[in-house]
Amino acid sequence: MVSRRGFLASSAAAAASAAAALGVGATAASAIADSGQQTATASRSLVFAGPHQMGIETPIQAVTNMVAFDILPGTTLLDMQRWMFLLTDDIRRMSRGEPVLADPAPELAIGAARFSAYVGFGPSLFRKLGLEDRMPEGLIDLPAFSIDALKAEFSGGDVLIHVAADDPVVLSHGVRNLVRDSMPFATVRWNQAGFAHTPGMVPEGVTHRNLMGQIDGTANPGLDTADFDEVVWIKDGPSWIQGGTMLVFRRIAMQLDTWDQLSSVGKGEVIGRTLKEGAPLTGTKESDIPDYEARSAVGLKVIPEFAHIRRASNAGNGERIFRRPFSYEQPISKAGSMDVGLLWCAYQRNIEKQYLPMQLRLAELDLLNRWTLPIGSATFAIPRGVGEGEVIAEGLFS
Ligand code: HEM
Repeated sequence: MVSRRGFLASSAAAAASAAAALGVGATAASAIADSGQQTATASRSLVFAGPHQMGIETPIQAVTNMVAFDILPGTTLLDMQRWMFLLTDDIRRMSRGEPVLADPAPELAIGAARFSAYVGFGPSLFRKLGLEDRMPEGLIDLPAFSIDALKAEFSGGDVLIHVAADDPVVLSHGVRNLVRDSMPFATVRWNQAGFAHTPGMVPEGVTHRNLMGQIDGTANPGLDTADFDEVVWIKDGPSWIQGGTMLVFRRIAMQLDTWDQLSSVGKGEVIGRTLKEGAPLTGTKESDIPDYEARSAVGLKVIPEFAHIRRASNAGNGERIFRRPFSYEQPISKAGSMDVGLLWCAYQRNIEKQYLPMQLRLAELDLLNRWTLPIGSATFAIPRGVGEGEVIAEGLFS
């Protein structure tokens, strides 16, 4: 059985025979595979079919593009079914490194490069379609937080397609196909591009660094663990959401000019972890005393009270999330300031119970707030994954 993480390093020969078995003929991908020239990056494909959509319980890819749509006025449930049918077929093909049907640029399909795409639905979609009674429990519009400086052009959206890959050309080709096939049903509300390390830059299992220099993701539930299942994947409700999850998306700008004035000790204190290794400032192993309050009780009061991890952490109360943020970078200002930040993505079973109390606490007080500014925000329900013959969100729009 293929692991849920869905990682498959296929050989060039396997890619070619899979393409042949599917009857796609001499595609660009199979032509390259036949010649034995497909590189390791090109031939690495993620498994499309399974209990969960792709690109969540997956080691982070190098590049991403998140595209949010607003449905056209008068969109019907049947339109939604047609749209999902097209997207499912497109994503299935591109996850194998193949062109989509009627692909305007099939020559760009030269390999999968761990292409992934998942689809999610914002609360506004349920309202527009009159499906309020089908909103999964815990999917909410976020309240206005005191720290927010949200911009409409980075926020909201009825439908999200979140695409990622290890190659920018594969990503661009994928986004082009998915957006083109969405145009009969919706308009683009926003799109936000981001990046992480190229695979191989950090050893697998080691979390990556964000643009503040911090190791990000240490306290996350591990991929392919029972813990991950517990925190992320929804187990009840209607069948379309069982095996699905919920996304909180926040675009968070980093104030690097002032951040860079801090010493590395100061930077460590803001988070509660050393900048170099990401180790907790208490010096204890994570597993010894995972609860920060308990650490203080035994005299390990080294992490500042308002440090980010101390304010964020309340695991005992079920407030846990899986963070999978990509970095973003905008054009540099004339004065040389870098406009960077995170496309901060957090996955959980229930936004109201797992994310909201944490964010309210952080909005109230978190040393990190001085150097970060949320400028975009959206929430989406992400349907379960599908088997080979199924369509994404089957059952929701019938
Ligand atoms: C630009 C914004 C942010 C940056 C740079 C940032 C950075 C970090 C870093 C470096 C860590 C420590 C290493 C780790 O466990 O990953 C961390 C931990 C964490 N962050 Fe953030 N973070 C940001 C925003 C947020 C937001 C908006 C939330 C939730 C509302 C959040 C929740 C958490 C949680 C739950 C932890 C783990 C705490 C624990 O140790 O139990 N972070 N963050």
